[in-house]
Amino acid sequence: MERRTFGSVPREVPVIGQGTWYIDDAHRPTAVAALRRGLNLGMTHIDTAEMYGDAEIVVGEAITGRRDEVFLVSKVLPSNASRNGTVAACERSLARLRTDRLDCYLLHWPGSYPLAETFSAFERLCEQGKILSWGVSNFDVPDLDAAWKAGGEGRIACNQVLYNLGERAIEHAVLPWCGEHGVAVVAYSPFGHGDFPDPSTPGGRVLEEIAANHGATARQVALRFLVRRPSLFAIPKASSAEHAADNAAASVLRLTDAELTRIDAAFPLGAQPARLPML
Ligand SMILES: NC(=O)c1ccc[n+]([C@@H]2O[C@H](COP(=O)([O-])OP(=O)(O)OC[C@H]3O[C@@H](n4cnc5c(N)ncnc54)[C@H](OP(=O)(O)O)[C@@H]3O)[C@@H](O)[C@H]2O)c1
Repeated sequence: MERRTFGSVPREVPVIGQGTWYIDDAHRPTAVAALRRGLNLGMTHIDTAEMYGDAEIVVGEAITGRRDEVFLVSKVLPSNASRNGTVAACERSLARLRTDRLDCYLLHWPGSYPLAETFSAFERLCEQGKILSWGVSNFDVPDLDAAWKAGGEGRIACNQVLYNLGERAIEHAVLPWCGEHGVAVVAYSPFGHGDFPDPSTPGGRVLEEIAANHGATARQVALRFLVRRPSLFAIPKASSAEHAADNAAASVLRLTDAELTRIDAAFPLGAQPARLPML
């Protein structure tokens, strides 16, 4: 599994990780087996959130006995992100995950509590060793500027954002901003949250043809395109071991410049929206 330095965090993190939104809807042993298969194949970046129902409990079960392998990420809801609320939310997540620390803790999206409050809670959690780094999610450039000011230079590890072939809005400004500031960009919903290009569509056919050239799958081609720049990571969610294995194999795929150009043309960037899209 290919790994990269995770923004300002001196840790090597796999380019393909594992999402967990709705993983608690799956048969529990199957979901746990999927996450463990992913870990076995090097997808050790596991993303979860207090918002995701029982997902943290499923993750806690999957990482039992393997905590040191994992780059574990969870998120605080904006409605809980006061100074004391953030600390309490983190402690609840740690209990559900059956661990003593998170590798990175994120503000799920910008909310109404001042960023300085949330970030001072993050710093307190860092001092206590309950989190090892912190970041943000769904932050557009004005939010990132404010976060940089409130949190201090080099403190934001990552910005987790919506990024897939059908939604490339981050490429206009967020991705360049993060590249310039050494902030990792984590692509969530890399398969469009269940809306992956159908092989009967022109774009879907392009993915299938490129995949066939490499003995790969269309989803592997999509993932590889999404992590084509050095600040990028992706966190597909899979609730079966077969899907997890399929996704992990994207790490070894290498697309040519001509193939990247073809994908770029098949799934055009589009105009910059007024607001950064989020799910
Ligand atoms: N920060 C945020 O605001 C935010 C928002 C959304 C998501 N996220 C994070 O990003 C993660 C990923 O996004 P997502 O869950 O929205 O959607 P996604 O990863 O884009 O797509 C998940 C869907 O793809 C299917 N799938 C996965 N691998 C497959 C494969 N190899 N072959 C066929 N189907 C496959 C899954 O099916 P099965 O489940 O049946 O395997 C599921 O239906 C989330 O789980 C969450 O951790 C963060």
